[in-house]
Amino acid sequence: MRHLISPLDFSVDELDELLKLANDIEKNPKNYAHACDGLKLATCFYEPSTRTRLSFEAAMLNLGGSILGFSSADSSSAAKGESVSDTIRVISSYADICAIRHPKEGAALVASSKSGIPVINAGDGGHQHPTQTLTDLLTIYSLKNRLGNMTIGLCGDLKFGRTVHSLIHALIRYPGIKFVLISPEELRVPDYIREDVLKKNNIPFTELERLEDALPDLDILYMTRVQKERFFNEEDYVRMKDFYILTKEKLNLAKEDMLILHPLPRVNEISVEVDDDPRAVYFKQAQYGVYVRMALILTLLKWR
Ligand code: NCD
Repeated sequence: MRHLISPLDFSVDELDELLKLANDIEKNPKNYAHACDGLKLATCFYEPSTRTRLSFEAAMLNLGGSILGFSSADSSSAAKGESVSDTIRVISSYADICAIRHPKEGAALVASSKSGIPVINAGDGGHQHPTQTLTDLLTIYSLKNRLGNMTIGLCGDLKFGRTVHSLIHALIRYPGIKFVLISPEELRVPDYIREDVLKKNNIPFTELERLEDALPDLDILYMTRVQKERFFNEEDYVRMKDFYILTKEKLNLAKEDMLILHPLPRVNEISVEVDDDPRAVYFKQAQYGVYVRMALILTLLKWR
């Protein structure tokens, strides 16, 4: 049995297979409409979510399976003090596969160690978000026809943004990747990403503060929201929240074929006027999230 806790849990070849399966699912959805008949997905969400939970549920329903679960800690026995380990033991006898989101770093890993069914990390605190990464990879792969040889700008809250951490981990395994890390001083990537992931693997990267300085060089611009819920005080959040706003005017500096991704939810960091630009693919990206989660559910169930 395999789990997906970190984006590195899949080899590059396995990822390649998964993305191809997702592409096939997009093209031939009918072929998969009964692939999970009689099987159940549990979604255990201890933190708010729209896309991740609903795209998991849509994915399982599209495969002919059923869903059960909870969407907040308050509505589960966590509110009575039950541990994640105990909850997952019980859920293992109710469902065939489980997606879990939790505010604590490492919660999904703990769950997987006690689980009798495959566990998917749907976000653990400010740490990792591997299924968003699968979504991001599928978006880039489908729209650019490659995953290597590109310059990727990651902009916004690089400190707390778990989607950024997971995406960096995943992309360094492809050739010719360069990163431009665009953030205010206080929201730079954590040291372990800079030292143990980027420097250790000799990945070229620059860190800068002004989005305008980076824009002309980028093949992908990955915008992120300032992660309000991970700040220790409101004052710091208020100071940082509108640090970046991507506007139509700024986009004039970018390449014609640059893609703008965002894991969503968007707050103010991308002006709505940008939505009509053909380079803005974040809503399409959310749609890819369903295909890739269908592929993931099928793959993990096959490996049981
Ligand atoms: C992201 C997350 O939860 O980390 N959202 C998502 O799953 N698409 C990004 C965010 O909340 O900013």
